[in-house]
Amino acid sequence: MSQQGNPLSRRDLLKLAGASSVGVALGPTVGLAANRPTLKRTIPSSGEKLAIIGMGTSRTFDVALSAANTEKLAKVTRVFFDRGGQLIDTSPMYGNAESMVGETLRRVQNKKALFTATKVWTDGRDAGIAQMKRSAERMGVGKIDLMQIHNLRDWKTHLSVLRRWKSEQKIRYIGITTSHGRFHSELKKILETEPFDFVQFSYNIVDRQAEKEILPLAQEKGIATLINRPFQRGDLFRATKAKSLPSWAADIDCRSWAQFYLKFIAGHPAVTCIIPATSKTEHMADNMEAGYGRLPDAKMREKMAAFMGTQMR
Ligand SMILES: NC(=O)c1ccc[n+]([C@@H]2O[C@H](COP(=O)([O-])OP(=O)(O)OC[C@H]3O[C@@H](n4cnc5c(N)ncnc54)[C@H](OP(=O)(O)O)[C@@H]3O)[C@@H](O)[C@H]2O)c1
Repeated sequence: MSQQGNPLSRRDLLKLAGASSVGVALGPTVGLAANRPTLKRTIPSSGEKLAIIGMGTSRTFDVALSAANTEKLAKVTRVFFDRGGQLIDTSPMYGNAESMVGETLRRVQNKKALFTATKVWTDGRDAGIAQMKRSAERMGVGKIDLMQIHNLRDWKTHLSVLRRWKSEQKIRYIGITTSHGRFHSELKKILETEPFDFVQFSYNIVDRQAEKEILPLAQEKGIATLINRPFQRGDLFRATKAKSLPSWAADIDCRSWAQFYLKFIAGHPAVTCIIPATSKTEHMADNMEAGYGRLPDAKMREKMAAFMGTQMR
């Protein structure tokens, strides 16, 4: 087995990825990722492959649209694409974030693999349509890949519009989101009765509620999953600040706590794409490393969760 820090051949990496207990597709790579296979998962409704690490924008991209902020976040976005990133998740709920995504994308060249995801977050059909059109304008894209109903808000009204838009090829996928465990039973009922391409919810090493019903249901029904709050809004780093990673983290190619947290999630076979948010290039580079190498199997994931429990006590 190759040691940490030693360069791995593509053959080694293919072997290692194949050794993982979960099905991971090896996709085409770009930029700095060129010599390494990016971990990808399949969107069940289309068969399209998507890089397992995406990018969130809540708070991190909700900043003044100044030249300095734009250049700083364009650098973060370049690192994201250089390391094989594709999906950027935003929402009209996040203040300036959609506009900042648009501003940064205008300054970034290496964005061929871009997959855009935003949300509708208002009441009423006409308000929803106006908001979705505005989102595409703000993000500077002709077509949004994934349009999600944010926090189940007025979902029946928006769903009928989204179905029509999808049939007219104005969007490619339809999704629905929450970040509150208390909405899981309502979300479950919706997913059981209505066809969705994607469902987005919170899931991380200390918030495992989604394992009970939502992840198994998504797997059973062939719905792609987007995982928000993978770092519990940053709380996980505060919990393990000044604590060392266990030596066995190297067995799943983790060199940092961020990679430990992200690989815990990525090891679940029903996870399609994880969307950590960051405003820093070094954190982006760190997070994107979780999209390479070995992933934990079920036994290793329990070991990771147990270790985390002891760290937080
Ligand atoms: N209902 C919904 O639809 C919903 C709800 C919640 C979230 N979301 C989506 O999910 C995304 C992710 O959730 P989130 O933003 O709430 O929380 P998160 O991704 O769990 O945590 C973000 C925090 O982690 C820090 N961080 C990121 N990478 C780091 C690293 N490598 N080392 C140290 N610190 C790091 C960031 O600070 P730095 O800037 O300093 O790196 C930031 O404070 C959101 O941005 C949004 O797109 C959707």
